[in-house]
Amino acid sequence: MQEIYAPSRNPYYNRLIALRGNKDQIAYCDHETEAYRGSWRSKFLAPTTKEKLHVELGCNAGHVVLDWAKQRPTERFVGIDWKFKQVYRLHEKIIENQVQNLLTFRANQERLPEMFSPQEIDHLYLFCPDPWPKRVHNKNRIFQEPWLRKIHPLVKTEFYIKTDHREYFDQMRAVTGACADLWEVIDESFDLHAGNPDAKKLRIPDVTLFERMFIRDGLPIHMLRLRPKP
Ligand SMILES: C[S@@+](CC[C@H](N)C(=O)[O-])C[C@H]1O[C@@H](n2cnc3c(N)ncnc32)[C@H](O)[C@@H]1O
Repeated sequence: MQEIYAPSRNPYYNRLIALRGNKDQIAYCDHETEAYRGSWRSKFLAPTTKEKLHVELGCNAGHVVLDWAKQRPTERFVGIDWKFKQVYRLHEKIIENQVQNLLTFRANQERLPEMFSPQEIDHLYLFCPDPWPKRVHNKNRIFQEPWLRKIHPLVKTEFYIKTDHREYFDQMRAVTGACADLWEVIDESFDLHAGNPDAKKLRIPDVTLFERMFIRDGLPIHMLRLRPKP
């Protein structure tokens, strides 16, 4: 079988691997993110069986998800990113802030179905995903029909997406249309902050790190909210 995750020379890889098996483990790396499918709620420092689980894909160093976790201590959050360093930073911030309801994964978001079991996620978020703007690279975009179909069983309540990239947004709407048997559009906007004269003053977590930069550059933010059909 082809290795999905290979050992890396990145110094933060070793730091993340060293956390494995710790009693108070909050950061999970590579294969380990697929080892507790269906039982993540028991892995939080404050374990639970029924609290809502929110998962943010491509969370970077967790700016948004950390604030949410602090503001909503009864709910549970997972922030996933591909970058070792950003995930390690989030791990440090979780400890510094003594947050009990947030886990972080260094993982490939494409493998979400291997990480979570059906109905395990209440709310899923994808904010400002890499747009891969060159046509030859479009295939690297996460939001594609096979992936949107595969993740449908995992999500109980809602999938919330934001992007500044109009052409990628058009693709997202087309992909969603092709999956209309599985996903219902409950809200969408081509300019989420239109009519807000103070949009440039919005702060994390009301906007993400990248969203804030795009707003400052005068770019409209596109938004899609999807509900999984039963
Ligand atoms: C443009 S940044 C957006 C960060 C953040 N969501 C925001 O809005 O400020 C995209 C993020 O997605 C992460 N990413 C890219 N490909 C990924 C993958 N296959 N799996 C997990 N994360 C990924 C990157 O490392 C980066 O942190």
